[in-house]
Amino acid sequence: MGVVGVISLLLFVVGYGCPLGHSNGLACSGHGRCLDKDRCVCDDGFSGPDCSQRVCPSGRAWFDAATSNTTAHSDFVECSNMGYCNRETGKCDCRPGLTGSACQRTECPEFDDKECAGLGTCLSMREANPGYDDWDADMMFACVCDAGHKGFDCSERECPKGDDPLTPGVDEVQVVDCLVNQGTVTFEFRGQRTDPIPFDASPELVEFYLEKLSTITDVEVFFFDDSVSLCNGTTSLVTFVRDHGDLPDLNFTGGDVFTDGVSSALRPSVASVSGTKEWVECSNHGTCDDGSCDCFTGFTASDGRGNIGNVGDCGVLASNYSDFVVVQFFQPNVSKAPCPRAKPRWNKNNPERAICSGVGECMPDRTCNCSLGYAGEACEFKECPVGQAWFFTEEVRPQEATCSHKGKCDATTGECSCAASNGQQLFEGPACEVMACPINSTTDEICGGDHGECVTMAQLSRRRGFNYSESWDANVIRGCVCDKSEGVFDYNTSSSSYRGPFAYAYTDWTGYTCDHSFCPAGDNPFTWGQNEVQMLNCTSSGRSGTFNLTFRDAVESVEIPWWADPQKVERELERLSTIRDVKVEFVHRNESRNETVCSEGQLAMIEFRSERGDLPLIVVADDSNFRGGSIEITEFLKGSKENVECSAAGICNREIGQCTCLDGFYSGSDVGERLGAVGQRGDCSFRHTSTRDPKWQNPLFQYSYSFVLVSASGDGAPVGDFGDL
Ligand SMILES: *[C@@H]1O[C@H](CO)[C@@H](O)[C@H](O)[C@H]1NC(C)=O
Ligand SMILES: *[C@@H]1O[C@H](CO)[C@@H](O)[C@H](O)[C@H]1NC(C)=O
Ligand SMILES: *[C@@H]1O[C@H](CO)[C@@H](O)[C@H](O)[C@H]1NC(C)=O
Ligand SMILES: *[C@@H]1O[C@H](CO)[C@@H](O)[C@H](O)[C@H]1NC(C)=O
Ligand SMILES: *[C@@H]1O[C@H](CO)[C@@H](O)[C@H](O)[C@H]1NC(C)=O
Ligand SMILES: *[C@@H]1O[C@H](CO)[C@@H](O)[C@H](O)[C@H]1NC(C)=O
Ligand SMILES: *[C@@H]1O[C@H](CO)[C@@H](O)[C@H](O)[C@H]1NC(C)=O
Ligand SMILES: *[C@@H]1O[C@H](CO)[C@@H](O)[C@H](O)[C@H]1NC(C)=O
Ligand SMILES: *[C@@H]1O[C@H](CO)[C@@H](O)[C@H](O)[C@H]1NC(C)=O
Ligand SMILES: *[C@@H]1O[C@H](CO)[C@@H](O)[C@H](O)[C@H]1NC(C)=O
Ligand SMILES: *[C@@H]1O[C@H](CO)[C@@H](O)[C@H](O)[C@H]1NC(C)=O
Ligand SMILES: *[C@@H]1O[C@H](CO)[C@@H](O)[C@H](O)[C@H]1NC(C)=O
Repeated sequence: MGVVGVISLLLFVVGYGCPLGHSNGLACSGHGRCLDKDRCVCDDGFSGPDCSQRVCPSGRAWFDAATSNTTAHSDFVECSNMGYCNRETGKCDCRPGLTGSACQRTECPEFDDKECAGLGTCLSMREANPGYDDWDADMMFACVCDAGHKGFDCSERECPKGDDPLTPGVDEVQVVDCLVNQGTVTFEFRGQRTDPIPFDASPELVEFYLEKLSTITDVEVFFFDDSVSLCNGTTSLVTFVRDHGDLPDLNFTGGDVFTDGVSSALRPSVASVSGTKEWVECSNHGTCDDGSCDCFTGFTASDGRGNIGNVGDCGVLASNYSDFVVVQFFQPNVSKAPCPRAKPRWNKNNPERAICSGVGECMPDRTCNCSLGYAGEACEFKECPVGQAWFFTEEVRPQEATCSHKGKCDATTGECSCAASNGQQLFEGPACEVMACPINSTTDEICGGDHGECVTMAQLSRRRGFNYSESWDANVIRGCVCDKSEGVFDYNTSSSSYRGPFAYAYTDWTGYTCDHSFCPAGDNPFTWGQNEVQMLNCTSSGRSGTFNLTFRDAVESVEIPWWADPQKVERELERLSTIRDVKVEFVHRNESRNETVCSEGQLAMIEFRSERGDLPLIVVADDSNFRGGSIEITEFLKGSKENVECSAAGICNREIGQCTCLDGFYSGSDVGERLGAVGQRGDCSFRHTSTRDPKWQNPLFQYSYSFVLVSASGDGAPVGDFGDL
């Protein structure tokens, strides 16, 4: 008695309860709520019919089809469309080069096992560039190097910078008005702030505080009107004698700073000066070689102010240089300066310092016009290709960068070596200018080999009807579009879309690498549904002619003659690769009338038995041989059987494209039976009889055409008698 009780209780649970977790046997795996004794409503973070599957974090899609001519990169996409979700741990397994919980950001390059060589900061576009707000603002990361370091991975040392001695230029002079009579003031320059400076500081003291900042090398401070105090209604000049070029403004707490030619408010005759001296590595007259300048012939180290000194910047033309006289500051006599001569880096074995390295022309202003492919002031480098920058610190696009800021330029060969992670490149192309399509590291194949195609965002979007061509990323972000199964075939294990062991398990490829696959889909056995029925109404003129029909995206069409009987129509439709099983019945089947599809008043009912859900209409592909007649196809009954992966009664193993059915469920039949007989579909739509929900035995759900047609015709009289098909 007790045993029987337990068994029937078990049956009851399986029969009426919600799905039991396939791993732990608990209702909804203990991660959801059971609704209507039918359906699990999963807790946040879980999915699947039994709530056993973890959901992974989501982010903006790196690659997807546009949803308008200018919008793409949808938000809330699991693993940002560039990783696979581990359903057991809920963690994304990202493609190499991407990181973050949802694969939503790029890695920064490493050097010596250190991010940004330990000499820079890995920042997002938004962090590096607060005005930037495009889709990739929080996704694209790169190194912003500390002062003195450069290169996309910060592994290169910057060389001393200086003013080009062959061109005129003036120092930056900023004017400071200060009127406070107690306490302290501070200056800020390039993000660094001085210690508090007494309000009555002397010029020497102000200079001392300013030069303590690492962002300032050497300034001279001068107070007007013999003032001895910084802030006694004083106007002072701050001249930057070693930091050249047009500099950013000092930020001052004690008053106003005037720059770029603007005059003091207190003393309008005192004007600021915008710096015009160059501030370039090796002063444009040397080759930068890992932190030190190899000066071109004739140039030597300066004191940073145009005289010979020990700043290794090549900032002065040596006075004893025999061939040439010294160039006058501000009044260069360019014809007397030497033409650039350096050791070519692209041919280190050649010690000769030829003019413009022998691959350029020395112009009258003593610069080199390098031949194509060479770069550097003396053409001593091979030029690396330039591409649209993936990362930049100034606000606007388009911007270009050597190797698109995603690779290292080898100036001896002129080739970019694009950043790689685990041996895989996220960006590729001569200038690292395009995103590479993902490669499966096990099989070494792109887009699953022959399971998909590598396309750009623009190409993918065009297939979806959008002209996504204006956006900067349209032609540079690429990804895989996966193949679809070509139709519903007979048992044929040589097809790449066949996912055995069941005969009709043909599904599409999926995943960012296209080597995962969907599982067979079927009707959810927990809910009632009906097959789609479409009505074909044709009338031939003069009892002649043929017409062609097709379905979904079948490339072929089939020919229906006017005289076809139900069997003929059915046979022809089933020849389409997109239809496996239909049942065709004529409304008028009494023997007195000629049973042809295009007889006057005849209607053909086409019931879809293997294609689930609300289906598109069968379409007339060609009616040129059916002139004068009329063909009309309409939906008679909307299909309401689900067409969901594993019928929502199983767990899909996307790696092999096979369903693991929950207890009590099994592959349903592809054809025939309305209630889902056991069969070869590969879904989980078959529910074991003993566990079948009795509500489906309700006659109301045991529909037949007569039932349906009675209600459809409206006058209560059956249009035809179709019995139980
Ligand atoms: C401040 O300026 C006033 C007049 O402008 C002058 O008399 C005074 O000596 C100055 N004080 C200092 C500390 O420079
Ligand atoms: C100057 O500093 C203040 C306070 O730190 C800051 O709010 C302001 O934006 C700075 N101005 C400039 C031009 O950097
Ligand atoms: C020029 O002077 C520098 C040092 O002042 C010396 O090293 C160099 O040999 C001199 N060159 C010539 C051509 O005299
Ligand atoms: C440059 O110097 C030469 C002779 O030393 C002189 O003839 C010429 O006028 C000068 N050019 C300029 C632009 O000063
Ligand atoms: C530089 O050289 C190229 C040929 O190599 C020539 O077409 C071009 O006009 C030159 N540029 C200048 C500014 O002379
Ligand atoms: C690589 O391919 C193998 C075999 O097709 C597959 O099992 C695996 O999931 C793939 N890995 C990735 C990351 O796509
Ligand atoms: C998108 O572009 C196509 C082709 O340029 C154009 O026909 C269509 O109207 C555009 N659609 C929208 C929504 O702008
Ligand atoms: C797509 O848009 C671009 C620019 O908006 C236009 O030049 C191009 O002709 C369009 N292509 C199509 C197929 O409409
Ligand atoms: C199996 O399918 C492949 C491609 O889908 C086709 O080339 C082949 O002829 C089919 N074989 C059979 C026996 O149907
Ligand atoms: C079938 O088509 C004919 C001719 O167009 C039309 O008169 C008739 O009403 C249609 N029948 C139905 C049931 O739609
Ligand atoms: C109509 O279908 C037949 C049989 O599939 C085919 O041979 C024929 O080319 C089709 N006609 C057209 C115009 O598509
Ligand atoms: C039915 O149609 C066929 C084909 O046109 C014709 O030969 C036959 O005589 C017709 N039969 C009747 C009963 O109308």
